[in-house]
This record gives sequence, structure tokens and C-alpha cells, in this order.
Amino acid sequence: MFEPPNDTIPPETSIEAMRAFLAGRFVVFDGPDGCGKSTQFRRFADWAAAQGVVVTEVREPGGTSIGEQIRSVLLDPRNDAMTVRAEMLLYMASRAQLLEERIRPALLRGELVLADRFVSSTLAYQGTAGGMLRDEIMDVARVAVGDMWPDEIVIFDVDTETAWKRMAASGRAAPDRMEQKDAAFHQRVREGYLQQCREDPARYVTIDASRNPETVFARLVEAFMARMKAGIRPRTR
Ligand code: TMP
Repeated sequence: MFEPPNDTIPPETSIEAMRAFLAGRFVVFDGPDGCGKSTQFRRFADWAAAQGVVVTEVREPGGTSIGEQIRSVLLDPRNDAMTVRAEMLLYMASRAQLLEERIRPALLRGELVLADRFVSSTLAYQGTAGGMLRDEIMDVARVAVGDMWPDEIVIFDVDTETAWKRMAASGRAAPDRMEQKDAAFHQRVREGYLQQCREDPARYVTIDASRNPETVFARLVEAFMARMKAGIRPRTR
């Protein structure tokens, strides 16, 4: 388990307050491929659990048996004939299943739901980068998501060059169908996330993810502390 530095939580912040703040919250971590969100996801989940918070972790596409089957169709490099509309609907289908099976029950139990990607990914990849209209995506998202929208969407922002270097250094096997897209596509993905942050600064938290993992994590915890101090509540479910 990741051990947070002792000074991560300022002394004036009680663990009880942090626990109450995170309970029943729906938090999404998102960003371009290679932004380092998976590392931060692991750290944040361990950190929250260390505060006594019950954490439900989910990832997209996937996170359920049906969703994982949809994931393998979506990411299979042989499926290069897939249209962006079919792609968008498959991501949403995986999401609808995940929501009913895992996210809604966990939120109703008062747990912290930490999601690796959500609608923000579809808006960036199939929307800004893929060319679909935001309104079309949001119409389908409302069907898939219903009333369970995230309280916070944390975007780990990184320039395309740093992201590619990280992916190359990670020693992963062959890139999946989305990662194989060209640099211009990934540049648009980044711009898509930044645009969402500009349009909804109350719900989106932007973190500079070009720094080292320790600095990024410290910024992340600071951002949550700031929101807690500002008294930002999760919506009533
Ligand atoms: P992952 O690598 O974080 O597991 O995500 C899988 C890929 O799917 C990644 O390249 C982003 C992409 N993606 C979309 O294009 N649209 C979506 O709605 C989601 C959730 C992911």
C-alpha cells in the first residue's frame, strides 16, 4: 500500500471531516493516454482507504463481466473498421452496465466511488478528437447515466510528447486500437479535456501531470482539501 507522507493532511483537518467529505462521493480520474492517472488512482484509493473510507474502484471501459467483453471489442486493433458512432455507443453500453451493477449500489451504501474514466473520456475521444457533436454524446450519456453524475472530475493534464515518452517507457505490450491513433488525434484529446475544464470549473479539477508522481499526488490531495474547506457537497442521491 502507498504510504502518504505524514504531512499530507494539514493538522487542522480532522480525519473524521475528510472521511465525511469522501463518503458517498463519486470521483472520476481522467486524462489522455500516458497522463499517469492509473498511478495516481492507485495512490488515491490507498490513501482514502487509510483514512477509513470504504472505496469502490471501477474502470472504463469494463469493470463488469459484460463491460470487459465490450472492452475487448473496443480495444482490439483488428476492429479498425469501427465507426465513431458505434464506438461511442459501445463505450456508453459498458458505462450503463457499470452504473447499474456497481456505481449506483456503492454510492447508495455511502462509499467513495473512484472511477478510472467516465463520460469525460467520451467527450474528449469520440467528441473533440473523433468529431462527434457534444450534444449527441450528452443525449446518449443521459440515457446511460441517468441521475448519477460525478461530483468531481479530476483531469490529469499532460503534453502529448511527455505522454508518449511515458507510454514508450512503460514497457507495455502492443498499443491498443485507441493508442494507435496518430499524434494529431491525441493532441485533440488533450484539448478536449482542457475545454471541458474551462466550461465547468466548479466540477472539474485540473492537475498538471507533467511533474513527478509525488508532486502530482501532493497537488491532488491539496485540491481535495481545498474543495472540502470550500464545503463542496456531493449532490443528494
Ligand atoms: P484505458 O487505457 O484507460 O483503459 O482506456 C482505454 C482506451 O479507451 C483509452 O485509449 C481511452 C479510450 N476511451 C474512449 O475513447 N472513450 C471512452 O468513453 C472511454 C471510457 C475510453
